[in-house]
Amino acid sequence: MDTQFLSTEAKKLVALPKGILAIDESMPTCNKRFENLGIPTTEENRRKYRELLITAPGIEESISGMILFDETIRQSTATGIPFTEIFKQKGMSIGIKVDSGTKDIPNHDGEKFTEGLEGLNNRLVEYKNMGASFAKWRAVINIDMEKGLPSNECLDINSKSLSQYAQIAQENNIVPIVEPEVIMDGSHTIEDSYTVTSKTLSNLFKTLKEQNIFIPGLILKTSMVISGNTCPVQATTEQIAEMTVKCLKENVPSDIGGIVFLSGGQTEQQACDNLRMMHKMNPELPWALSFSYGRAIQYPALKAWAANMEDVATAQNILVENARNNANANLGK
Ligand code: 13P
Repeated sequence: MDTQFLSTEAKKLVALPKGILAIDESMPTCNKRFENLGIPTTEENRRKYRELLITAPGIEESISGMILFDETIRQSTATGIPFTEIFKQKGMSIGIKVDSGTKDIPNHDGEKFTEGLEGLNNRLVEYKNMGASFAKWRAVINIDMEKGLPSNECLDINSKSLSQYAQIAQENNIVPIVEPEVIMDGSHTIEDSYTVTSKTLSNLFKTLKEQNIFIPGLILKTSMVISGNTCPVQATTEQIAEMTVKCLKENVPSDIGGIVFLSGGQTEQQACDNLRMMHKMNPELPWALSFSYGRAIQYPALKAWAANMEDVATAQNILVENARNNANANLGK
C-alpha cells in the first residue's frame, strides 16, 4: 500500500473548490431515468449520454474526478477515443463504482446489505490498469423510528463490508470512497436524522479503525442531516448546515482525506444551498468538505438532452453551470 499516493490522491479529489461528479448509475437505474424522460434505453444512448457528460467543455474546472459504472469505463467517444483518455487529457481522476447493489437482510423489515466483495480484488486490479485511482461502495440505511430502524445488525453488517472493501481498495492503491447513505425517504424529523447519521458514522469509523484502514487515504461520502421527505416540519437550510457539520465534527476523524455529500433526492437548489450554508457558517473546518452529487448536478442536463438529443451543447452548458454553482458553494459563494 502506497500511503503517500493514497493521501495525495484523496486530497486532490477534494481540493476546493472542486468536487466529484457521480455518473455511476447502474444499467437498470440509468435506464429508469432514461425511460422517465422518454429516452430509448439502449447501450448506445447510455454511451452518448456519458460522452456528453465527460467531454463537456470546462467541466474539469469544477470537477476533480467522476465515478463511472463498469460499462462506462470501457466505452469510447463516437470518434473512438477511450473515455479514460479524455480523463487524462482533462486532468480528471477516474473513479469506479465497485459494489454490485443491495439485497434484503433476511427477517429485517426490508433493511439492506450491499454485495460485491466476491472477486473484488481482481476487478480492482483491472480498473487500476485502466487508470482508475478511486472507487465507491454504497451502503443503504433506512430510517423508521416506529420500527426502530436502523437496527444495530444493519449498521454492523454494512460497516463491516465497507471496511473490507476499503481495505482491498487501499491494498490496490485505489482511494476508497465509503458511502453509508442514510435515506431521506420517510416522515422522520431532522433530529431523528441526526441521531441515526451519528450512530451510522460512529459505527463505521470504529470498524474502519479496527480494520486498520489508512484514514488520510479514505473519503467519506455521506448524506446530509436533513428532515425526512414526508416530515410535516421541514428543517431550514441553517438547521441542516448546523446539524450536519456538528454531526460530522463529532464522528469523523480530523485526519480523513475528505468528506463529500451525495444529493439523495434533494433538488439541485437545495443541495447547492445547503452546501453553501455549511461553508458560510464554517469558514474553518477540520477536513475538506465538498460534493459528489449525481442527480443534483446531472438532472437538468439530462432533461435538456431528452428534449433535444441533437443539441448536446445546451445540455453540456447546463451541466457545467450546475457544477460551477456547487464549486462556488464550496467557497461560500
Ligand atoms: P445522488 O447525488 O443522485 O444521490 O447520487 C450520488 C451517488 O453516487 C449515490 O451513490
